[in-house]
Amino acid sequence: MRRWVLVAAVALGGCGDSGLAERRAAAGADPTLADYLRVSDAARGGRLFGQCAACHTVREGGPDLNGPNLHGVVGRRIAEGRARVGYSAALQAKPGVWTPEALDAWLTAPQRFAPGTSMRFGGIADPLDRADVIAFLRAN
Ligand code: HEC
Repeated sequence: MRRWVLVAAVALGGCGDSGLAERRAAAGADPTLADYLRVSDAARGGRLFGQCAACHTVREGGPDLNGPNLHGVVGRRIAEGRARVGYSAALQAKPGVWTPEALDAWLTAPQRFAPGTSMRFGGIADPLDRADVIAFLRAN
């Protein structure tokens, strides 16, 4: 019963930040990334992307700025997506693709994920904020 109340609150709160507390509650106790993604809000992630937009475009065909265009980045090989971008050796040394887990670690602390990266960004401390940004990237 309680669960349904929370689900309804998430649905209603999806448009603004008013649903934040409900979404945190709906993620459950000791939430994992999967739990946060389950309650994530891509639209809010788009607003949070404002802190990335000085360096990144995300629309298809968008230019590379200081950082590479991020269209379709989820599932793309790390540091290989944009041929003309001069990726750092630090990021190029990372194997694999940008899974939600890899993005979560990267966005928590870029310098810890890839020491020496050229991405001058301190990171996003809040796991729900990161999940919202990842949901936004996944939708683009
Ligand atoms: C000050 C500029 C700057 C800001 C702000 C910034 N980035 Fe970056 N980003 C970069 C640069 C430069 C790189 C390339 C890093 C490297 O090669 O080490 C990069 C790389 C990336 C990559 C890897 C892309 C690939 O093709 O492998 C992702 C994903 C990414 N950024 C996401 C974000 C997100 C999401 C935000 C906001 C929360 C953000 N960045 C904020 C400059 C920035």
